[in-house]
Amino acid sequence: MKNFQLQAKILAQTKIKNSYWRCTLRAAPIARLARPGQFVNIKISAGLTPLLRRPFSIHGISGDKLTLLYEVVGQGTQILAQKKAGESLDIIGPLGNGFELKSARPALIVAGGMGAAPLLFLATKVKTLVLVGAKTKEQLLCVQEFKKSGCRVKISTDDGSAGFKGRVSELLKHNLAGYNTIYACGPKPMLKAVAEVAKKYKLPAQLSLEEHMACGIGACLGCVVKTKDGLRRVCKEGPVFLAEDLIW
Ligand code: FES
Repeated sequence: MKNFQLQAKILAQTKIKNSYWRCTLRAAPIARLARPGQFVNIKISAGLTPLLRRPFSIHGISGDKLTLLYEVVGQGTQILAQKKAGESLDIIGPLGNGFELKSARPALIVAGGMGAAPLLFLATKVKTLVLVGAKTKEQLLCVQEFKKSGCRVKISTDDGSAGFKGRVSELLKHNLAGYNTIYACGPKPMLKAVAEVAKKYKLPAQLSLEEHMACGIGACLGCVVKTKDGLRRVCKEGPVFLAEDLIW
């Protein structure tokens, strides 16, 4: 699949809340090609630290601009958050397979925590019901943005501080009627639970995995997952896999 390496100018860098940030970049060739579920690989620093590029889901596309949603969790994202509008980042993309949109509809979207990052882009194409889950109310992401994209939203929190009290996979069980495809992204235990629901109700589910990556281009095998067809690289054959193909 075609991709580009380029210097992308930062147009905006906004702290949304807590440690969550949104960054908008000008990257016309990548924006033109990108599909929901794909990602970009960013060299955050020109120096040696951090040495490796970091993967970021494509959160949204608007004309020649692409938006990323990220959480400051380590050195790389700390440095990224300090970058200002006007600076440039060396980025490669679009990478990965992305979601298959031709699947039977209607579809349901399930976003757990930072899983909202690639799913907002998907939601702009598949306007549907989005289930947004997080541990607490403070960690819920993109509820208003999903609504603005034309979707209906239901929320769950593990501690009951907002919406349904419990896991988003539980909320999913209560909202399956009328849907025949599931798209989901989030932490592994959540995706495993979504895969179990999909299996139980015999629904196809496309899961975007949030695996740690090193090279991001299929060279290091640092991101492999077990599938029915053997080991597969999340950065190359993924990050989106059919739930029925994954071995947990
Ligand atoms: Fe190197 Fe996937 S990160 S092969």
